Amino acid sequence: MSWVRTHTCGDLRKKDIDQEVVLNGWVSSRRDLGGVIFIDLRDRYGITQIVFDESNKELHSKAEDLRSEYVIGVKGTVLQRDEETINPAMATGDIEIEVSELTIYSEAETPPFEIKDGVATNEDTRLKYRYLDLRRPEIQKNLLLRSKLYHTVRSFYHAYNFAEVETPVLMKSTPEGARDYLVPSRVNAGKFFALPQSPQTYKQLLMVSGMDRYFQIVKCFRDEDLRADRQPEFTQIDVEMSFVDEEQIYKLHEELMATIWKEHLGIELQTPFLRITYREAIKTYGSDKPDTRFGMKIHNLSDLLEECGFKIFERTVKKGGRVVSITVPGEGELGRGALDRLTDEVVSETGAAGLIYIKVSDDGHLCSVGKFLTDDKVQEMVDRSGASDGDLVLILAGPAPLVYKQMGILRLMMGRKLGLIDTSANNFLWVTEFPLVEWDKEAKRYLALHHPFTSPKEDDVDKLEKSPEEVNARAYDLVLNGSEIGGGSIRIHSSDLQKKMFKVLGIGEEEAREKFGFLLDAFTYGAPPHGGIALGLDRIVMLMAGAGSLRDVIAFPKNQRAQSTMDQSPGEVDEHQLRDLHIKLRDNI
Ligand code: AMO
Repeated sequence: MSWVRTHTCGDLRKKDIDQEVVLNGWVSSRRDLGGVIFIDLRDRYGITQIVFDESNKELHSKAEDLRSEYVIGVKGTVLQRDEETINPAMATGDIEIEVSELTIYSEAETPPFEIKDGVATNEDTRLKYRYLDLRRPEIQKNLLLRSKLYHTVRSFYHAYNFAEVETPVLMKSTPEGARDYLVPSRVNAGKFFALPQSPQTYKQLLMVSGMDRYFQIVKCFRDEDLRADRQPEFTQIDVEMSFVDEEQIYKLHEELMATIWKEHLGIELQTPFLRITYREAIKTYGSDKPDTRFGMKIHNLSDLLEECGFKIFERTVKKGGRVVSITVPGEGELGRGALDRLTDEVVSETGAAGLIYIKVSDDGHLCSVGKFLTDDKVQEMVDRSGASDGDLVLILAGPAPLVYKQMGILRLMMGRKLGLIDTSANNFLWVTEFPLVEWDKEAKRYLALHHPFTSPKEDDVDKLEKSPEEVNARAYDLVLNGSEIGGGSIRIHSSDLQKKMFKVLGIGEEEAREKFGFLLDAFTYGAPPHGGIALGLDRIVMLMAGAGSLRDVIAFPKNQRAQSTMDQSPGEVDEHQLRDLHIKLRDNI
């Protein structure tokens, strides 16, 4: 019998009893029970218990030398386990292998952390030894889910006649709002490629080419501040279609999500998904990616407080700001100390100037600024907030939309603290009617909310020059449980309108020519109306797997400082490499 494995460590069952088998794998654990040595042999497919008894002295003593993570091969016979040692929690728990021959392929150093699920190891160590971390079943499960997802996604789009087209990784910079990763060119001194923040311009050009329906599972690169749901290098399911409107894109992608959830989680999603306008989302949830798995909606108290006697409220309303509230159910009993701590937390987490509260009680409400307000006013605020006996009303005042965003953070904070979030829910929704642009105070110019290629609503085009902030975009985001998992738009397909849009964004004619001349030119040769979407594949897998970070669903992710501690990248390069690239580093870095 050769050493080629006959089965994996997840294969063998009762029906295989008495078979002669060969297994390969890693020593997961070893127990020496006075003469009999039990080893859990692990591979990607599972764990099988193998047994060395004392009768074969030479074999037994070889087994005594086995340590965790040795890679071995065994030949042996499948036996039924004794009744009391059957392990129903293990797929192979009915059987064990009585070993007759052992070969050691690799010895192993003691690993820096135990290779098992749920180990409390700091993440830097896990990432430094990522190849060991990836041996853990829970991470392997995530990568396998991801692998299956590629398959489902590709089959789905192919079934609808989409063509998968690769686009360049070395390209001209596309403005998606983050910084570019740049790649210096050796043969073109002083020039740089940018890594794509997304293949946005290419997919639009493919529509001009008549490709009609394009998709790609594609790496994108953005040099931005990292969070648990952001990586510098991430994967999009990128899509573009000709002759479509929003409805077709919504419908197709609801079907894609329903297919994925059914195939991989066994869950039937309700379609069509809910829709909420951007303004409604901000007003009700204080977020453009609302988590609707719990209530605690935001109330606007401003009109009640124009002349209420409390200066902060009065001034806020007079200046066009808002006073807004949420009602926290059943927290009206919180003591002074707890409320002071909450206030500190709110100020530091949301940047709000302060927190005002009303402890609601049938025996008389207690408002933190009650001495400035009449009882009737406080009652009106309680009523508007929909609060009743035992509830706590939390109030913030400030300029809009900032105060709504601050309240949105506070709402999430309270929802998490009180365990109000139904973690079994799959609340998909579309956020629609985004403003086309927003004023950037620091840059003193308008910025595109999505990107500069997004089409304004037809009815709003004439407002583009005079009041661009009032123009709505034909843009949409797909949100799941408070995470933005996708975004897209119907695009501008006329070079005239595109030029106008650049003008609104303060991109001069020359700059527009220099940066996007190719796109503007392309639009003069017959551009079909088109639109598309990009879905964040990593975020989708993260949410499906119930993982807490994108790092748990990416094989080799970067850490919070955008580094890979495993291969020590980014790293320094030799002087001659820099010289080849015509680069001299600044003295003060
Ligand atoms: P957008 O910038 O909204 O759109 O990106 C689409 C989706 O990609 C995911 N995503 C990220 N995931 C992980 N790490 C990141 N740093 C990161 N940044 C974005 C999000 C997001 O919803 N070209 C347009 C799409 C279009 O208009 O068709 C674009 O890239 O889930």
